[in-house]
Amino acid sequence: MVAGNVVPLVDLTRLPAHVAIIMDGNGRWAQDRGMPRPIGHREGSESVRRTVRACRRLGVRALTLYAFSEQNWHRPPFEVEALMELLREFLLSEREELIANQIRLRMVGRRDRLPARVREVLDRIEGETADFHEMTLTLALSYGGREEIADAARALAMQAAKGELDPHRIDESLIDAVLPSMEVGAVDLLIRTGGEQRISNFLLWGAAYAELYFSDRLWPDWTEVDLYGAIESFQTRDRRFGRVSSDAQVATMDDLAPDAAPRAHA
Ligand code: FPP
Repeated sequence: MVAGNVVPLVDLTRLPAHVAIIMDGNGRWAQDRGMPRPIGHREGSESVRRTVRACRRLGVRALTLYAFSEQNWHRPPFEVEALMELLREFLLSEREELIANQIRLRMVGRRDRLPARVREVLDRIEGETADFHEMTLTLALSYGGREEIADAARALAMQAAKGELDPHRIDESLIDAVLPSMEVGAVDLLIRTGGEQRISNFLLWGAAYAELYFSDRLWPDWTEVDLYGAIESFQTRDRRFGRVSSDAQVATMDDLAPDAAPRAHA
């Protein structure tokens, strides 16, 4: 959480390479103001703009945004329709800025479930930005982490059934290679706004060792300064990936013997 007007200090040499965000709280933001929920989503798309710009300016290599989950299709039709229209408008209005800033746009999720008018714009901008390398902006659309893993398992099983893949070759690195969300690497920092503290089926494989950052801020209120705060918090974490800390004092079996002499601190 960012206190008062203090702008957090970000160390540009230790940025998270891949930031992923669960953008929650649009509906509550609108309801708090007596407005329909889609107004909250519209305001939320301004936070998306601010966040993309801030990540690009800092030098974050990959940003993945949970813009529409596979489960979001169960929302009322008018809200789904509003989100799809907003997405299309966002893509059309950001196209030039993405190109000017050499940002590659891609999507993960079930593309075939999206309306044709959204798919057309996505296809076009993905094609136009495919060779850019400054930053990759991935929109998770009609996306679910379990669905992505199930799709990959099915694809591998089919290859094995056809004799094209030896099942013994299936290991973590092969699964990394077949999951579309892993194309930009594992998640370093996973942010969720809106006060809830759960992952909600987002990037389940890639976020295995992500540092988690939960903010009470509703997504439409999220600013660059909040992003800097999340990154500053990330930079205080000791990422051990299951190992001991690099500055931990390593004990030997001799040290654990009941009569071992106390060791002087180095
Ligand atoms: C969750 O808030 C948010 C979503 C389901 C959609 C996120 C969409 C946007 C931020 C705007 C459009 C996206 C882009 C990329 C332009 P919620 O509705 O669940 O909020 P609540 O928990 O307060 O009800």
